[in-house]
Amino acid sequence: MKTRVVMPPSGIKEAVRLLSTGEPVALPTETVYGLGAAALDPMACAKIFEAKERPLSDPLIVHLPSFDWLEKLAQPNDLALRLAEKFWPGPLTMVLPRQAIIPDIVTAGQETVALRMSAHPVFQQVAEAFGQPIAAPSANRFGRISPTRAEHVLSELDGRIPLILDGGPCAHGIESTIVLIRGDGMEVLRHGPVTAEELLKFGRVLLGSGGISAPGMRKSHYAPRTRLEIKWHRHPADALSGSSAGSQCHAGLLAWSSSGDGYGAVERLSPTQDLREAAANLYGAMRRLDEAGLELIVAEPVPETGLGVAIMERLRKAAARD
Ligand code: TXA
Ligand code: MG
Repeated sequence: MKTRVVMPPSGIKEAVRLLSTGEPVALPTETVYGLGAAALDPMACAKIFEAKERPLSDPLIVHLPSFDWLEKLAQPNDLALRLAEKFWPGPLTMVLPRQAIIPDIVTAGQETVALRMSAHPVFQQVAEAFGQPIAAPSANRFGRISPTRAEHVLSELDGRIPLILDGGPCAHGIESTIVLIRGDGMEVLRHGPVTAEELLKFGRVLLGSGGISAPGMRKSHYAPRTRLEIKWHRHPADALSGSSAGSQCHAGLLAWSSSGDGYGAVERLSPTQDLREAAANLYGAMRRLDEAGLELIVAEPVPETGLGVAIMERLRKAAARD
């Protein structure tokens, strides 16, 4: 299959046409690029799993074209309605009891469904013209780094999907915050641009379930192929000692505050140490280091406050090998 990269505005029509015929298309969102398909069409959703090589046990996020779909697809309680009002459209995904209309392939057979509404203007135009919910996981092959630019999607899924709609680089650069709504409390299943501090204003916040209720929350995720270790900055020769090669130019640094002298490659997450900028650069920087033919990527930890919590969660998953 030939994969075409198209731009808005003409690309929007093409994307909608393909969605309507049950084909998957890659679309920009404000977090990362998604691989979208008609959420109410199980055959279309199956093509997402196929293109990504994603296990069928890992459920998809459904993106709503408008607020009135919330109660058609799920059973939101009061808290969910208040969160939707505050954070939608935007980078918050809520896991809620499902309605029967949702195909089993979307929820992986669970009684809950993950819902969000994207704030990206191009995604919104596609969703509005399509007029139906769009299931969209990140547009990478399973377990790999999420794409934050159309070219990343192409390198992940070239030949596997018909169309990529190029909406430029994603503003947030990391995936949405996922909360499981439990009565008047929220369990954070994945940290993201909406922080726990912001959620606290709406009720009790429980941090991390250890992966019980989020099938896709395996330890190893967002992983570069190159080994990645989180370390306070030290000389690259130290980082490599104990490994066979030893030459310092074979290590790359994903830098937060240090200059990276002596490393074979350096990617600075944010020269001004701004966590927002760091989040937006994270996956692109990881991808470039992964493509630099290194033996090891050393990642410097970032401060674990605000967005830094979400960034550190991604780095720990990239470092895990399970
Ligand atoms: O920012 C985002 O959320 C992006 C953009 C494209 O919207 N999407 C995204 O989707 O990151 P994905 O599939 O890569 O990650 C969604 C995670 C998966 O780990 C999945 O297991 C979890 O959400 N999930 C989906 N439905 C769920 C459910 N009903 N209960 C618990 N976890 C669920
Ligand atoms: Mg993903």
